[in-house]
Amino acid sequence: MDDALILGIETSCDETAAAVVRSGEQMLSSVVYSQISTHQVYGGVVPELASREHLRAIVPVVRKAVGDAGLSLPEVDAIAVTQGPGLAGALLVGITYAKALAFALEKPLIAVNHLEGHIHAVLLEEKQRGGEELPAPVLALVVSGGHTHLYTAERKQSTWQYRNIGRTRDDAAGEAFDKVAKLLGFGYPGGPILDELAKHGDPRAVRFGSSQIKGDHRGRAPEDQTDFDFSFSGLKTAVLRHVQTHGLQDSIEQRRKALMSVPHAKSEDCLAQADKQTLDLVASFQRAVVQDLVHKTLRAAEAMTARSLLITGGVAANSELRETFQQEATEAGLPVYFPSRALATDNAAMIAAAAFPKFVNGDFAVPEFSAEASLALG
Ligand code: KG4
Ligand code: ZN
Repeated sequence: MDDALILGIETSCDETAAAVVRSGEQMLSSVVYSQISTHQVYGGVVPELASREHLRAIVPVVRKAVGDAGLSLPEVDAIAVTQGPGLAGALLVGITYAKALAFALEKPLIAVNHLEGHIHAVLLEEKQRGGEELPAPVLALVVSGGHTHLYTAERKQSTWQYRNIGRTRDDAAGEAFDKVAKLLGFGYPGGPILDELAKHGDPRAVRFGSSQIKGDHRGRAPEDQTDFDFSFSGLKTAVLRHVQTHGLQDSIEQRRKALMSVPHAKSEDCLAQADKQTLDLVASFQRAVVQDLVHKTLRAAEAMTARSLLITGGVAANSELRETFQQEATEAGLPVYFPSRALATDNAAMIAAAAFPKFVNGDFAVPEFSAEASLALG
């Protein structure tokens, strides 16, 4: 029971992914088919198109993941699949296929929470590196296109327990990156583009006050649940106001048109279309998001007497976020752990890794389980 080859399947948003992981600690394969080019022209993920693309991709993606691991399907010990949160139709494609595979192969089926998956991406890579267990209690920040959540995570024998101590009240941090990129006439997804552009701007050029980041409730008792909540919609509105008061609309429209004529525009194309004022605005926006994420997380870590930080999810790929956490957590005497960039964004290795403790405990899904678009963790 302690050694298991788990096939993970992930279809919660716009990536069709499959991977094989041995016992939550060795990634044998990881295949991610990104649908970005399908959704790019619409400036965001279109749920119906996502389901259709998952249907198209799921069989070849799973076949490749099993092949890359040097296995055949009957050699797999269990199938793990994302149950939620995510887009209901997209999740259903993965779940239905996973159920059919588990039934046909007579293997156990394991339902995994996508957010728990993001946490296990980091634990998997640490084990793979031969690292020690993360010092407990762990404070985990899951920061992605759909979530900005703080959890305390503790291992109790072979199971992990989570407590949600903070969340966004409106937009997720990744969503704010995506919306601001769209607002400024850059493509989708905005995070990786703004990350590159911010390197060329002055982060002190535009001052965003703390009132724009409404979740900052200084003065409350540290045990107060709401004390660690986030809010990014005020910041997005402040960027919009800056655009309007500085007359940037015309240049944004020109940029939008210019980039639309470039098939699969990359960050170099975006940079070529960005003036200094825009680069400064992007750098200042990113600085404001990063400062808020880092400071609130460190404040929560202190209140929870956390002994390590785990930062994960798509936004954990952000260069400035990584550098700032590294610097400030080190100053606070806390080790900080990130996933590699490949495992920061959605993938199935994290799902297969998160499934291993459930496999050991015989925590299998009932055949009638279904997608849960708003599945919570902790
Ligand atoms: O975890 P993920 O792949 O999907 C969700 O579960 O949401 O995260 C995708 C999000 C998008 O909003 C994307 O813009 C953001 O992560 N992202 C980044 C970076 N790379 C991806 N945000 C900031 N900087 C990045 N380098
Ligand atoms: Zn995700």
